[in-house]
Amino acid sequence: MPQASLTSSPAYHALADHFDNASAWQLRELFAENPNRFTEFSLKAAGLLLDYSKNRLNTKTIALLCDLARERGVEARRDAMFAGEKINSTEKRAVLHTALRAPKGQALVVDGQDVNGDVHAVLAQVKAFAGRVRSGEWKGYAGHAITDVVNIGIGGSDLGPEMVCRALRSFAHERLNFHFVANVDGHDIDAVLGKVERETTLFIIASKTFTTAETMLNAGSARAWFLQGAGEADLPKHFVAASTNTKGVAAFGIDTVNMFPFWDWVGGRYSIWSAIGLPVAIAVGGEQFEQFLAGAHAMDEHFRTAPLEQNLPALLGLIGVWYRNFFDFRSISIAPYHQDLAQFADYLQQLEMESNGKRVTKGGEAIDYETCPAVWGNVGTNGQHAYFQLLHQGTDVIPVDFIAALDPGHTLPGHQAALLANCFAQSEAFMRGKNVQEAHDDLQAAKLSDDEIAALLPHKVFPGNRPSNTILLDKLTPATLGALIALYEHKVFVQGIVWDVNSFDQWGVELGKVLAKTIEKELTGAAQGTHDSSTAGLIALAHKALNKN
Ligand code: F6P
Repeated sequence: MPQASLTSSPAYHALADHFDNASAWQLRELFAENPNRFTEFSLKAAGLLLDYSKNRLNTKTIALLCDLARERGVEARRDAMFAGEKINSTEKRAVLHTALRAPKGQALVVDGQDVNGDVHAVLAQVKAFAGRVRSGEWKGYAGHAITDVVNIGIGGSDLGPEMVCRALRSFAHERLNFHFVANVDGHDIDAVLGKVERETTLFIIASKTFTTAETMLNAGSARAWFLQGAGEADLPKHFVAASTNTKGVAAFGIDTVNMFPFWDWVGGRYSIWSAIGLPVAIAVGGEQFEQFLAGAHAMDEHFRTAPLEQNLPALLGLIGVWYRNFFDFRSISIAPYHQDLAQFADYLQQLEMESNGKRVTKGGEAIDYETCPAVWGNVGTNGQHAYFQLLHQGTDVIPVDFIAALDPGHTLPGHQAALLANCFAQSEAFMRGKNVQEAHDDLQAAKLSDDEIAALLPHKVFPGNRPSNTILLDKLTPATLGALIALYEHKVFVQGIVWDVNSFDQWGVELGKVLAKTIEKELTGAAQGTHDSSTAGLIALAHKALNKN
């Protein structure tokens, strides 16, 4: 039976009544009224601290949001996911990224498949191969150890490995360089091929389907480049694959002994824990890769067992619902104050927007409320000198997630205190703002004339009341990174259940793919098509440019 619409649920109505008051709340006043806000609204789990006190909420808000989550079935659906039920209804698949990080022996059989056994068999294969590449035992055709690993994939087969390899670069093997090619734009692969040597390069073709057009084109170009200097027989020493498509991998010329399999119940954007994590395992080694999995598993256990009121992913997700569906905040910004998390916002863009950027319910009805906000961001302090102006004084309110580590893992004097000072200063500034009186006092102290003060004053006022979460890690390690990613995965899950969307399909990417195939044929002259005048005009110009010789 289709679920009742979110907006007709009793808990939603209770929240709407509560919002009538809450919409006028000022964070500054909430902090003044309750000096224990930090203690009351911060929680620790799986090595992460979530401070959610700088949000427009009180204990009643949390209670009502948790009522909503219960009413929408978050707990039951969570248990169904962990149990391997086919909750990805449009693709009739289980959703079992959590099984990829479950310890050995945690039995789970789905459709007769021993999931835990299969997962650990592939993990052992990944660890063994990673060990051979790292030690130099795995040799290229000329007898040299590998120095460069090139991952060719896109979407989840690129963003995860690239983000995690970057985040854990201080744990990486010193002999090995990692490169990531995703874009069908030839500049991407060309730049990488210009940097590496055939004899010492390992290509990982990472594609769940092994049919994704961009990846196949890039893989073909890498193969052609390789064969310019080496023979077909040398290929298996330099090309391996992470995929579910054995036939496709074999047809490409990869020895299927060096294919690292996974399964249809691993979604692309949830695949970093599977064989898609091979570059990570090579970079940091099997043991650290297992730490990464263990960190995510610790967050899974927290999510699975903690009451919603003390459940980090549930709280993060529900606060997001509060802002999206009641305050109508349309985007969120991710601000990692850690250079090694430079690609974290890009990673979350796919995780959140491909999962919950949906406009019909699981049952196919049109949705009459808002779903996923736009997700974007960049590392602090860089963002401060680019777009934070808009966050402080723009006309939209954009909640921010600050992410920082207490221990930087380096000993350069001065940097860490400056970094954390900026992180905490920004969230304080968003929360407090600067009112007219304070701005006026500042200008007076600077000895400006009354006329000058009157002219400048409106520009110097900060409205404040701009919410944020702060997530603190003791240190960025494989384990805390695993927990951090799992935190956001489960946040997305909670929101998907409240919004009643299927967070695990991505039909929205199909239309463009199909049209691109048709247009490509028209650009090369292999076919002719009918289009609107804009598309036809652009095709005509590109056709001329592409075929000028
Ligand atoms: O086009 C979207 C998508 O299907 C993503 O969901 C996925 O991560 C990406 O393409 C890559 O898919 P594959 O791993 O099959 O090449």
